[in-house]
Amino acid sequence: MRKILIKNIKGLVQAGEDLPMVLCGAEMANIPLIPDAFVALEDGEIVAYGPMSELQGIDDWRDLELVDAEGKYVMPAFCDSHTHTVFARSREEEFVDRINGLSYEDIALRGGGILNSAGRLAEMSEEDLFNQAMKRIEQLMAYGTGAIEIKSGYGLSVEAEIKMLRVIKRLKEKAPIAVKATFLGAHAFPKEYKENHRGYIDLIKQEMLPKIAAEGLADYIDVFCERNYFSVDEMEEILLEGKKYGLVPKVHVNQFSALGGVAKAVELGALSVDHLEEMTEDDITALKNSACMPTILPSCSHFLGIPFGDARKMISAGLPVALASDFNPGSTPSGNLGFVWSLACVKMKLTPEEALNALTINAAYAMGLSDTHGRIALGRKSPLLMTTQIPSLAYIPYAFGDMHIERIFI
Ligand code: NIG
Ligand code: FE
Repeated sequence: MRKILIKNIKGLVQAGEDLPMVLCGAEMANIPLIPDAFVALEDGEIVAYGPMSELQGIDDWRDLELVDAEGKYVMPAFCDSHTHTVFARSREEEFVDRINGLSYEDIALRGGGILNSAGRLAEMSEEDLFNQAMKRIEQLMAYGTGAIEIKSGYGLSVEAEIKMLRVIKRLKEKAPIAVKATFLGAHAFPKEYKENHRGYIDLIKQEMLPKIAAEGLADYIDVFCERNYFSVDEMEEILLEGKKYGLVPKVHVNQFSALGGVAKAVELGALSVDHLEEMTEDDITALKNSACMPTILPSCSHFLGIPFGDARKMISAGLPVALASDFNPGSTPSGNLGFVWSLACVKMKLTPEEALNALTINAAYAMGLSDTHGRIALGRKSPLLMTTQIPSLAYIPYAFGDMHIERIFI
């Protein structure tokens, strides 16, 4: 058995036996913290924690790794509930086009964007896609990510969507952290279906979904509900079909326009609605008293220069909020959740505590991992982070761009 005792921890964060699964509204401001603490792990399972004064003598030193966390914080690893980590190549040429005046939408309309990534992915082998994505996951873990959701959606053909999802399935089996798979065949209409939406939606329903279900390739189903992409009615039709195969909706809505997709997704039992840069009062009302997690992606807003989701308004309305990276080659070429934490504080005026809850407890909920991730409690195998020596927790989002995570315990 592999045993680890982390002792002299400056602050043990989000540890407790009765922490809720979701933090809403004003509850998001609270972060439980045990000063001068220890935590003990056996094969990754949390078997004891508390103040140093309660640490008993150690009877069995065999295979015990002692970690001195003097001046350092220990907290649950971040959960990244929205990523597109499997992709073929970066798209920095579009980044330069945007610097020179084109918008993300202009680039998409002339065949770039998601279709650009789809063209490249079609040519890459499953093996290469897997190896690249695994390297990215290792990098994300170094940034503190302890669980990740990954979407398909750069396939856009039966063959390539299945290829992507098989890569994600292998990542589930081989990656050191938990991986959830989301089918996003409805990410964009491929060129040959531009004028034939019916044809592509039928392809999703009649060919992609049955194969995905037969191979058990996805946990969730996503649709990019947006002008020039999928309408609310098209989203509804696709989500309803996915639900027949047991796939829970988790959708892209309200990135550039509020079309009513939030209310529809909530009605269809979505676990989360993601992006939310543009929100109406009706959208907020639809989320109240629902089981759906509003999820905001501030590094996408940063990179595309679009509005940041109004998390303050959502929290004032009593809603929970989760934060995720949206890591992808087009709108967010970074999966660094420490940077997301900082953006949430600087640009969205979340307190450091609210943003941390949005990256841990609420994010774990948004990817169906509340039972294992996002907080520290006995009997759980939650991955943990140890920071470097820092003056306070708020120092992490404050000193943005620096690396404050020293180690992840999986
Ligand atoms: O979440 N908005 C849709 N999909 C991605 C971007 C995909 C891309 O540009 O490759 C997003 O931002
Ligand atoms: Fe996305």
